[in-house]
Amino acid sequence: MEVLDFLEKEATFTLPERYSQLSEEEMKERIREIKAAFGERLFIPGHHYQKDEVIEFADARGDSLQLAQICADMSEAEFIVFCGVHFMAETADMLTGDRQKVILPDMRAGCSMADMANIDQTEIGWEEMQRVFGDTILPLTYVNSTAAIKAFVGRNGGATVTSSNAKKMLEWAFTQKERILFLPDQHLGRNTAYDLGVALDEMAVWDPQAHRFEYDGEDLQRVKVILWKGHCSVHEKFYVHHIDHLRERVPGIQILVHPECTHEVVQASDLNGSTNYILKTIAEAPAGSKWAIGTEMNLVNRIIQENPDKEIVSLNPFLCPCLTMNRIDLPHLLWSLEMLEQGEVVNQIVVPEEITKHAVLALDRMLARS
Ligand code: 13P
Ligand code: SF4
Repeated sequence: MEVLDFLEKEATFTLPERYSQLSEEEMKERIREIKAAFGERLFIPGHHYQKDEVIEFADARGDSLQLAQICADMSEAEFIVFCGVHFMAETADMLTGDRQKVILPDMRAGCSMADMANIDQTEIGWEEMQRVFGDTILPLTYVNSTAAIKAFVGRNGGATVTSSNAKKMLEWAFTQKERILFLPDQHLGRNTAYDLGVALDEMAVWDPQAHRFEYDGEDLQRVKVILWKGHCSVHEKFYVHHIDHLRERVPGIQILVHPECTHEVVQASDLNGSTNYILKTIAEAPAGSKWAIGTEMNLVNRIIQENPDKEIVSLNPFLCPCLTMNRIDLPHLLWSLEMLEQGEVVNQIVVPEEITKHAVLALDRMLARS
């Protein structure tokens, strides 16, 4: 199917009327029944950013790395109904066997960051980077990227990374080549490289729209890390003034953010790490401690509920939802399960064999080091 046909079909797709008439309890009851009937044939992984109404049904919760590891080890389930976003479901499809089917309950659950790098831009940019720097660059891609980008990275000797292993993967990459191209999140790339001692003037940004480097330093040849000009629209909404304001008003408050936040915010915070790190840090914190968390709101609200003995607020008082993560809701989950019950697999994510073959190289290089 042509891409435009596909997008048009998705844009006009609406759930059958009956899903707007069911009560929340009716939907939950049906999901419980279907899960019980399928038993081990059905597996539902859920990312920490999913809504409470959905995460309640997850057989496993995790950050991006944990969910990839769980799927790689999940050989029993025939159907994997992925409660997360498109790139995670693609990863699950590539890491599971041929007889296993991965389903995304709502095809509109994409990731705006992953959409900021497409394969054509990457191939074109790579050519220019090779011209400027020669064969000195190893590509790394954040898992928040399309399967095609992962395949490009795999073909060129690189690996995927997640927010929980980025440091380790950059260290490894520097043992392979002199320079790194980091796709598509400039912030995670910059924050991680800086932690490893790479100076800001040893990093340049590649702007795929303008097709040029953004670099303030004196000599481009000093550059060790090329950052793709992409970002997360949710995590860019945390600002240093939020931190300053809270520190003035709440003595002793600690600031804990996701490394997709800007360099300025990460530098001004006390701690940063993946969604799993954030959960663990708060769970292990002493009662009475005070925290401001800079990450997606479903997770922040859940952490607040699960830790009534601590004072926790969102770093941005207007909270930041990830709209695409929120696409997965009870009606879509139930619809995809009811279709399965009727023997029809809807919204299956299938990555073409040619792409999988190379993307798996990049994923395996990461999994072997995680
Ligand atoms: P992690 O769960 O790996 O920290 O990633 C956060 C995220 O933005 C997923 O899209
Ligand atoms: Fe993508 Fe940001 Fe949403 Fe994560 S929070 S899925 S990076 S848009």
